[in-house]
Amino acid sequence: MSTSNTTVLENILDLARWAPSGDNSQPWRFEITGASTVTVHGHDTRDHCVYDFEGRPSQMSLGALLETFVIAASGYGMRAQISRRPAEAERYPTFDIRLVAGAAVQASPLLPFIAERTVQRRAMRFSPLSLPQKNQLETALGAGYRVVWRESTADRARIALLLFRSARIRLTMPEAYKVHRDVIKFGARFSDDRIPDQALGLDPLATLAMRWMMASWPRIKFFNTYLV
Ligand SMILES: Cc1cc2nc3c(=O)[nH]c(=O)nc-3n(C[C@H](O)[C@H](O)[C@H](O)COP(=O)(O)O)c2cc1C
Repeated sequence: MSTSNTTVLENILDLARWAPSGDNSQPWRFEITGASTVTVHGHDTRDHCVYDFEGRPSQMSLGALLETFVIAASGYGMRAQISRRPAEAERYPTFDIRLVAGAAVQASPLLPFIAERTVQRRAMRFSPLSLPQKNQLETALGAGYRVVWRESTADRARIALLLFRSARIRLTMPEAYKVHRDVIKFGARFSDDRIPDQALGLDPLATLAMRWMMASWPRIKFFNTYLV
């Protein structure tokens, strides 16, 4: 966006909407209520998405949106005052945001990365984090949170097993099939509101096989029963 006709608030919203969300569901709608005020109407997807347990992933996505809004606002020398409407139902978290100009506001070092950031779905590297990198991660969390490092071979094997088991459940239950069928956009590198298949980290042949299988639940069921 960012043309001469758009307002600062619109430019900030244009950046904020790059925030990550589970299944790229973007569980937010914006209501611009003034030159420097906006209401974020959140919702969760627990009714139809098996992964949205008690709406928690949607709530995390809304947190990511608000944090991205704050980072974007800093690029315009603005602070964002955010308040949650306490009366709103848990399924519809609603936030009122007011932009306030502040002489002391410095552009966040994360600002250039808002539109660059993407989820890394390819295989992880084996090189361990350096001590400064680990320190940086630990301090980035802020008060009340800490990183739990799992680094021994035994710990890593346990985590790998946990991930394997959870992936198996996700790939074999019919409820997850429905979610994946609706959120993956096949034959695409980019998508405004779904996950493009080329971002899944699969090679072209595996993507093709997945596309064929996901066309129907009986195909997936056959695969799960006889080949997994
Ligand atoms: C709360 C939350 C949960 C997510 N869960 C998963 C997940 O289980 N598997 C996955 O591959 N991506 C997951 N994602 C990543 C989203 O699919 C991704 O953010 C979205 O498709 C937008 O893509 P982008 O982050 O690359 O812009 C999650 C993101 C959020 C915020």
